[in-house]
Amino acid sequence: MSGFDYSSDAYHVEKRRQLAPLITQPVEPFRAEFDRDVVGGEARFWMEIHMGLLKASATLPQWCEQLLSLNDAEALRALQPRVVSLGAQLIHHAHGHHHIEDEHFFPVFLQRYPELANPIDLLEHDHEVLASVLDDMEKAVAGMNRPAGAGEKAGRDELLVAGEVLHKAALRLDRLFVRHIGDEEEICLPVLAQW
Ligand SMILES: [Fe+2]
Ligand SMILES: [Fe+2]
Repeated sequence: MSGFDYSSDAYHVEKRRQLAPLITQPVEPFRAEFDRDVVGGEARFWMEIHMGLLKASATLPQWCEQLLSLNDAEALRALQPRVVSLGAQLIHHAHGHHHIEDEHFFPVFLQRYPELANPIDLLEHDHEVLASVLDDMEKAVAGMNRPAGAGEKAGRDELLVAGEVLHKAALRLDRLFVRHIGDEEEICLPVLAQW
């Protein structure tokens, strides 16, 4: 049972502009001795995973834009598999990473520090939203991966329509990743650094 209304503007990952006091206050005691620059071990590894996810989520919309700017059917077909592969990898990595957090990190955090219930609850809710955004992405990637219809023009037009759908989904995912991962590090890194 949450101590806050996740769907409200102050908490929802697609609407919040910062972390509310109910989320940051339980983390304050961990922050006192925390220095992001000297983080090592598991926390450093975790940050590197985040950097990889953010790099892929920032790259995908750019590659979609490149695809959408192409007129030549041959060039389009050459770029298509790279876009599909990056999208599929990103979805796979994101699901795997969220699974590890939900099943391993967050339960351990809560067991050691029950006072982190609200921050962890927020991050778990974020993962639910992200899962549905990733589902949309998956559909968009599948749309890009369909064999082109008969005729050069039809094939090109289909690919461009699918590219636009994927571009929109990829931009949304990137925006939510920036918010979620930034906030997650703000909450979890000071805690992880204490171990
Ligand atoms: Fe997460
Ligand atoms: Fe994460």
